[in-house]
Amino acid sequence: TALPKLVVGNWKMHGLREHASHLARAIAEGVRSIEGNVQTIICPPFTQLAGVHDIIDASGPTGQFFLGAQDCHTTASGPFTGDISATMLADLGTKYVILGHSERRQAHGETSQIVCKKVQAAEAAGLIPIVCVGETLAERREGRTASVLAAQIESSLTDRFTGVLAYEPVWAIGSGIIPPREELERTAALIVGLLQSHLKADDIRVPILYGGSVTASQAPSILSIGALDGVLVGSASLEAEGFLDIIRVAA
Ligand code: G3H
Repeated sequence: TALPKLVVGNWKMHGLREHASHLARAIAEGVRSIEGNVQTIICPPFTQLAGVHDIIDASGPTGQFFLGAQDCHTTASGPFTGDISATMLADLGTKYVILGHSERRQAHGETSQIVCKKVQAAEAAGLIPIVCVGETLAERREGRTASVLAAQIESSLTDRFTGVLAYEPVWAIGSGIIPPREELERTAALIVGLLQSHLKADDIRVPILYGGSVTASQAPSILSIGALDGVLVGSASLEAEGFLDIIRVAA
């Protein structure tokens, strides 16, 4: 059976109460009328998780619309002022958590080893991790994309990783630039192979997402790549109609 397509909206550090509830309501309403094998996940900032959870809950059990967070701590509880654990997220009704986003790897010094600890914490709490990997522009220019992805996949993922992998070339994030189709196809195929050799298991199928400047107009070409199971959307997920258009393309 075909895996559902996944459309993940990462709100990053956007969304005050009013905008967040407006946006979540509009997406909930739109998602109800979209038929197809697609799952929508929205990842608001921590402060809006509870509010958005209630909106998703009130929209009824569609089995198609889920809540995600953008990070979690490596442990379940403890003296870590300002941190949020996976257990706390699960307690709030969160189902997914984005881990190892390049913005956290760069601005918070998150190494793949730290990301792997977070993956373990998320899995232990029953959350589904969405782990981000991707090369920088300099690494791409130096022809190091394959080795960078290999190292990130090898060190960030647990041995029997049951989450989602998001390929986000750092240079494509927020830039309006998307890798040429042949390059994206090649990299997606490379990632399939890297996952196979990392997991050493035939019974695990890790969905692969693409992220970086995804819009509704680019989505058809991206989603027609066979090795990709969906998209991770940043800025285009902050406006309901554009985001719903991407979900419609995926459905
Ligand atoms: O997590 C989302 C990605 O960083 C993509 O962001 O769609 O604004 O380029 P973007």
